[in-house]
Amino acid sequence: MSDPVALIIDDEQDLLSLLSITLRRMGVESHKAGNVAEAKSQLDRRSFDLCLTDLRLPDGSGMEIVKYIQDKYGDTPVAVITAFGDPKTAVEALKLGAFDYIAKPIEVDQLKAIIESSIRLSKASPSTPSSRTLLGDSEEMDKIRALINKVARNQAPVYIHGETGTGKELIARLIHEYGPRASNPFVAVNCGAIPRELMESEFFGHKKGSFTGAFSDKKGLFEAANGGTLFLDEIAELPQDLQVKLLRTIQEKSVRPVGEVTERAIDVRLISATHKDLQDMIERDQFREDLYYRVNVIPINAPSLRERPGDIPVLAEHFIKSISEKIGIKAPTMTKEALKILTSHRFSGNVRELENLLERILALHEGSVIDAEDIDLPQASRPSKGAGESASAVEMDGPIDEHLVRIEKKLIKDALKRSGGNITQAAELLGTSFRSLRYKIKKLEIE
Ligand SMILES: Nc1ncnc2c1ncn2[C@@H]1O[C@H](COP(=O)(O)OP(=O)(O)OP(=O)(O)O)[C@@H](O)[C@H]1O
Ligand SMILES: [Mg+2]
Repeated sequence: MSDPVALIIDDEQDLLSLLSITLRRMGVESHKAGNVAEAKSQLDRRSFDLCLTDLRLPDGSGMEIVKYIQDKYGDTPVAVITAFGDPKTAVEALKLGAFDYIAKPIEVDQLKAIIESSIRLSKASPSTPSSRTLLGDSEEMDKIRALINKVARNQAPVYIHGETGTGKELIARLIHEYGPRASNPFVAVNCGAIPRELMESEFFGHKKGSFTGAFSDKKGLFEAANGGTLFLDEIAELPQDLQVKLLRTIQEKSVRPVGEVTERAIDVRLISATHKDLQDMIERDQFREDLYYRVNVIPINAPSLRERPGDIPVLAEHFIKSISEKIGIKAPTMTKEALKILTSHRFSGNVRELENLLERILALHEGSVIDAEDIDLPQASRPSKGAGESASAVEMDGPIDEHLVRIEKKLIKDALKRSGGNITQAAELLGTSFRSLRYKIKKLEIE
C-alpha cells in the first residue's frame, strides 16, 4: 500500500515545516496550501487521507475548509489548528465535523497522536461489525442509529442525556465499536461510585509514595483508555474540584498523575452521560458551564420508552430470545393480550425495566406461551385499572400516619420489584437518593 497523503494548510512557513517534518517521520507524504482557495483546488484535484488546517488564513477561515470537506469529501478526516486559549473555536470546529483540533503552540506529541488517529480513521472500514445492536423501529431510534454512525468517525466529545435504562451506555459502546478506536479500550466509569478522596488518583493515576497507601505507580482511567474511549457515566456526580481538573485535561489533552511533575499526553475520546438536567445544575452552580460546553459538543438524547411504545414489541421479542437462550429454555411466544399489557405499561425504568420484567417472567415460566396473566406488573399499571390506584389501593383502616407508612412501603416495594432489587434504580424511580431510600428500607423493615 502506498504512503498516506496529507494536505496541510497554513500561511506560516515555520508551521508548515513543522507539520511536514512530523508527517514525514510518520511515513506520511504532505502537500501544502497557503490559503483557502488553494486548499479547495487541491482537494478537488486528488483525494487525501487527512487534512490539517490553520484557522486564520489570508483569504478566509479554516472553518470554510472544514465545511467544504464535510460537504464534498466527507470521508477525509480534517483537524484544525486553533489559536492559543481559544476553546470556543475548537468546539465550533468539532460541531462542524472536524475530527479533532490542536492548539498553538503545537506540541509534537499531540500532533503525532492526532496524525495517528486520523490515519487510523481513514483506513478504518466504514463500520466494524458489533455484537450489540440498538433495537427499535421508531423514528427516534433511526435518528440515533444514523447519528452513532456519523459521530463514530470523529473524536468530538459526545454527551448522552436520558432517563435511567434508556440505553445510554449501549449508545456509548456502539459509538466506540463503530469507530476507528474499536480495537483500543473502552473504559466505562461511574462517576458517582468512586469515593471522593480517591477520585483524582483514579482518573489521573498516581506516583508511588505520593500519599499514604500509594504503594506503587498506578495508571489512571485516562491512561487506561489511551487510544480508545472513556465513558464518564453519571458525569453530574463529579465534585467541583474534579470538574476543574477534567476541564483542564480536555483542554490540554494531557494528564498529570498525583505526585508527578510532568504531564503525559493522552489521546482519549470522551463520552459522558447523565439522567440529570445539567443545564439546571449549571443554574444552581453545581456544574461548571465551561465543562458542560466542552463535553456537550455532540448531544444525543436517548428518549424514554414511553415516548416510543412502538419499540416495545421488537425489544420484548429480542429479550425473550436472548434470556431464553441464556437460561437454556425454548423461547416462548407472547399472546396479543400479553403484548398489549406490555405496550401500554409506563416503563419508568425504560428498557432496563422491560428487560428485568421479562427476566423475572421467564425465570418462573413454564410452557410455550406467555399470556396476559404471566405479566406480573404492579396492579396500577395494568391498562384495565386506573392510574394512581397503587396508592389508594391500600385501605385506610387506621390513623393517617400508619396509612401513609403503608403507602410508602408499597411504593418502595413496587419500585424495588421493578428495579429487580437494585436500590440505586429504585431510588431513581422514586425520585429520591440512594441514601435516603436505603435509610427508609431499613426503617420500614422492607426486605
Ligand atoms: N434500543 C435498545 N436495543 C436493545 N437493547 C437496549 C436498547 N436500549 C437499552 N437496551 C438494553 O437495556 C439495558 C439498559 O441499557 P443501558 O445500560 O445502556 O441504559 P442506561 O441509559 O445507561 O441506564 P442507567 O442510566 O440506569 O445507567 C441494557 O441491557 C441494554 O443493552
Ligand atoms: Mg448506564
